Amino acid sequence: MFEAVEMPEDKASFYRILVAQAKALTEGEDDALANLSNVASLLFTTMAKVNWAGFYIARGNQLVLGPFMGNPACVRIPFGRGVCGTAAQEQTTQMVDDVNAFPGHIACDSASQSEIVIPFSEGGEVKALLDIDSPITSRFDEEDRKGLEALAELLAERVQFDQLGY
Ligand code: SME
Repeated sequence: MFEAVEMPEDKASFYRILVAQAKALTEGEDDALANLSNVASLLFTTMAKVNWAGFYIARGNQLVLGPFMGNPACVRIPFGRGVCGTAAQEQTTQMVDDVNAFPGHIACDSASQSEIVIPFSEGGEVKALLDIDSPITSRFDEEDRKGLEALAELLAERVQFDQLGY
């Protein structure tokens, strides 16, 4: 069962607990929309110095806004555009220290300074992305990448992204 806990500051412990919390939140639930919504909330309410956390869902050759917390955001992002579009096209994590220096970056919220985007792929196709924005530069490091990729692995097992794509 899910229970909110005080989150530790050191990143390795933080992500260990975050993944356990996400496991508890999604246990026994197979609705993709509900699970992604709760995980977006978990990320936004527990991560320090984050102003946006959520998901984009791949539909055709576009990314469409999914469950998130933060300011309203761009609804559609073509593959190849900005940080999200690049992660979708290349199917690799993008960790950007200064979004203002990233070619084609889409400024949904002018407060965002750094960003990490992790794609979910199945059978060689991108299905969705996890996107997290921070109001400070260089917010994300290798420990964040490792921790968030571990969370993404859990979500890849628990979430049927095909419920959301068309
Ligand atoms: N900045 C992103 C767009 C999505 S928002 O940050 C929520 C990008 O360049 O892809």
